[in-house]
Amino acid sequence: MSTSEQQQAWQKAVEKSIAKAPERKHSFRNSSDIELERCYNPSFEYPGYGEKLGFPGQFPFTRGVQPTMYRGRFWTMRQYAGFGNAKESNERYKYLLSAGQTGLSIAFDLPTQMGYDSDASMSRGEVGKVGVAIDSLADMEVLFDGIPLDKVSTSMTINSTASILLAMYIAVAEKQGVTPDQISGTIQNDILKEYMARGTYIYPPKESMRIITDIFAYCKDNVPKWNTISISGYHIREAGSSAVQEVAFTLADGIAYVEAAIKAGLDVDEFAPRLAFFFNAHNDLLEEVAKFRAARRMWGKIMRDRFKAKDPRSQMLRFHTQTAGCTLTAQQPDNNIMRVTLQALAAVLGGTQSLHTNSRDEALALPTEDSVRIALRTQQVIAYESGVADSIDPLAGSFLVESLTDKIEEQAMAYINKIDSLGGAVEAISRGFQQKEIQDSAYAYQRSIEKNETIIVGVNKFTIAEKAPEGLLKVKEEVELNQKGALAKMKAGRDAQKVAATLKALEVAARGSENLMPYILDAVKSYATLGEIANVMREVFGVHRETVVL
Ligand code: 3HC
Repeated sequence: MSTSEQQQAWQKAVEKSIAKAPERKHSFRNSSDIELERCYNPSFEYPGYGEKLGFPGQFPFTRGVQPTMYRGRFWTMRQYAGFGNAKESNERYKYLLSAGQTGLSIAFDLPTQMGYDSDASMSRGEVGKVGVAIDSLADMEVLFDGIPLDKVSTSMTINSTASILLAMYIAVAEKQGVTPDQISGTIQNDILKEYMARGTYIYPPKESMRIITDIFAYCKDNVPKWNTISISGYHIREAGSSAVQEVAFTLADGIAYVEAAIKAGLDVDEFAPRLAFFFNAHNDLLEEVAKFRAARRMWGKIMRDRFKAKDPRSQMLRFHTQTAGCTLTAQQPDNNIMRVTLQALAAVLGGTQSLHTNSRDEALALPTEDSVRIALRTQQVIAYESGVADSIDPLAGSFLVESLTDKIEEQAMAYINKIDSLGGAVEAISRGFQQKEIQDSAYAYQRSIEKNETIIVGVNKFTIAEKAPEGLLKVKEEVELNQKGALAKMKAGRDAQKVAATLKALEVAARGSENLMPYILDAVKSYATLGEIANVMREVFGVHRETVVL
């Protein structure tokens, strides 16, 4: 298609989009009363424009995945939150929604992420610490009490036990009278980055991939608005990777998931439209904007050319961004407000669909209400006051940004080719390839800080004598005791026979090749606990032991 034909296709898509979702304003003008064009395009011959940039919502999606982008709808302001018990977290979610947040994002405590109930010895000292403690459907009912699940989209940062939490979410929605086809949201469900960088894995890779593709298959038929995976680069970057490695290792994981789903018998256009991504927004604003644009273009080409996806939605890289937790400093915590602002701006200039902004005190503790409000207001100021959301992909055409976009794509593709030569992402991880690359980058970055080549304001320059910070949020000590008490009470009141029957049925299915989701849903509805369900699969699948070949 020639550039002018592409532009006509885009115009048609804009009209269609506006008919469904009118733009925020009839006319976008600045203080000089100059009307901002929806999308600025070259008025001169721009060699390769169609292949390299194209138009918003059109292949290769460099300029964004929606024809009208933020003129039609801002990104979702989706603050990652959760701590203590379900009631405390429910109160924080309601506070955030009342402060103008437009999507939910659930943080679970480590026992929940690792498939242990709060009363397990492995859970001691971690219950309700880094996220909310969820032991059973009873806790999920409290977690979403008063929150209409047909009106809000919910992200759940859960991986090894994602199938169980998704089943609980479906069950809670049904209790609200909301059917599975009405709910929308995302489960992170990205086990490969857990093996590579984060560590909350349970089962061996083969069995983990089976659970993931079971979720793909189940959701395409039963939960069509659900994003079945959030293929994450965030944690890879937090572990110390470069921007190029973040894109490369994330998309290589994406390739592995697509291959696994196709191998499981799914047609690429049946599941790919509901794959989602999750990236970091680090300090170097222009590099980050170029990174997001490169990632979109790469994924578009990978899905069209490597996997022959026909549906444009299969070729779109839709992503969430979280500002970089690893850049937050304990020193002069207010400096983090400026860091987060610049990082959030990079995410918006890079076309994110959803955004979490870190709070200034998160290098020290869970965020206070004041801090989390400032973090959310940061997004709102960028959205409503800065003007950057009023024209699409405003940095396009910049000599620097386009050159960086090309270079990041080139270097990331070289990594993907290398990973392909090692046998793909799963094999490369088992050999420790990505881990070694990340460690080398992390070491080099830390050394550059220690040698004052990289300046961190307040840490290795512009330092001050500081007193210990006050007013930090503390998770109540009694959370663990109370959670264990509530769990014992729930168990005493449930139908033990029914629980045993659903767990047995799950075990039989796990030993066979049936889709596990219906069995997990039955178990959840019988109030089997997360730990009991996870243990059935531990029994059948075994657990993963990291064996990195150095
Ligand atoms: N015009 C018309 N329609 C538009 C539009 C426009 N301009 N912009 C958006 N829309 C539509 C979309 O098409 C969509 O409709 P559809 O579902 O029918 O297609 C709807 O509006 C919602 O838009 P998005 O899907 O773009 O936005 P969401 O916020 O719903 O989804 C996502 C974004 C990235 C696809 C999704 O996967 C998501 O929300 N991800 C969040 C993941 C997350 O929060 N992760 C946190 C992890 S925390 C963590 O791991 C770190 C910790 O470990 C430290």
